[in-house]
Amino acid sequence: MEEGEQIFGVGIESSCDDTGAALVAGGSKILANPKFDQTALHEVYGGVVPEIAGRAHLEKIPFMVDTILTAMGDASPPLIRPDYVAVTMKPGLSGSLFTGYYAALAMAKAWDIELIPIHHLEAHLYAVMLEGVPIEYPFLGLLISGGNTAIYRVDDLGKVEILGDTYDDAAGEAFDKAASLLGMGYPGGPEIEKGARRFLEKNPGPHKKSENPLPYILKGQGDSLHFSFSGLKTALYYLLQKGDTHSSEKLAWCFQERVFEILLRNIEKAVQSTGVKRVIAAGGVMANQTLKGRLEGLCKKLGASFASPQPALCTDNAAMVAAAGYLYHSRPEVRRYEEKISPKSGFE
Ligand code: KG4
Repeated sequence: MEEGEQIFGVGIESSCDDTGAALVAGGSKILANPKFDQTALHEVYGGVVPEIAGRAHLEKIPFMVDTILTAMGDASPPLIRPDYVAVTMKPGLSGSLFTGYYAALAMAKAWDIELIPIHHLEAHLYAVMLEGVPIEYPFLGLLISGGNTAIYRVDDLGKVEILGDTYDDAAGEAFDKAASLLGMGYPGGPEIEKGARRFLEKNPGPHKKSENPLPYILKGQGDSLHFSFSGLKTALYYLLQKGDTHSSEKLAWCFQERVFEILLRNIEKAVQSTGVKRVIAAGGVMANQTLKGRLEGLCKKLGASFASPQPALCTDNAAMVAAAGYLYHSRPEVRRYEEKISPKSGFE
């Protein structure tokens, strides 16, 4: 490898219901990032069905890889082989993860290049690299998706401590369940956001907190940075059972406000208690532009920097896996994820 020469990496993502492959240059420039989004296959069940997801990954991965090969051929000069292939190893649905792993393994063997196992949640945080955001340590990572809601302190590559986790549902899961209770579509997060926006368009406010019939969950939270969303969902359920007459748009707004309250409170506490003034937020729920705006405002107030990828890179994608892979490829001295599984690691 000559100095100044570009490093090319392939990323593979198949942890849940998105089948993705990506070709990324220098850990930040996306040359191809195709993804097959399985939402339509699962929609009717109101959630991801692992068997259907596994089968769909198997069917779609060859097409995704094919797109990568085409992008390699289209590169100038054409790329004979990339420098590494990074693949999501964990966490995820086992049947889904297998498909991506074996596709990546086959590529690594065929090209005789490094296979880099990546933790899916770590990849989400490094997605900001794809928008040119330089990674500086330490930073606080707020990860909010359909399966996870957590705050990490990241002191260096692979040096991660979990500061807060969810006791029950993830924020995205809570949105999905609330949307289902409100008779809105799946996935619920975008529907709740749209419903809340429609409510505010019709009722610009200002709105008082006491207008919200859903409970304030944070009482007695103390210094804890953990999350809990299931009580909120149950409160919405009983409100509807009792024949509540608010419109579903208003309740979407109410629910969203309560979820934001929890997320914002914990990230504020995390910045204050650690003194770490860099925040990176990622995961599917960060596609919510209202939340992004609120977090941006909060970080400004706290004197902290804030970065979050654009919506398409917040949800699962393979480019973020390639970006994280680039960091590991560039620093071979850092232990790889598979060697890192220990009770102390933040990413288990
Ligand atoms: O990261 P992701 O694509 O998949 C995993 O969970 O791994 O996140 C999907 C989650 C779903 O729960 C979805 O409802 C939520 O992200 N989501 C949103 C929005 N877009 C997606 N939640 C709130 N507002 C949105 N605009």
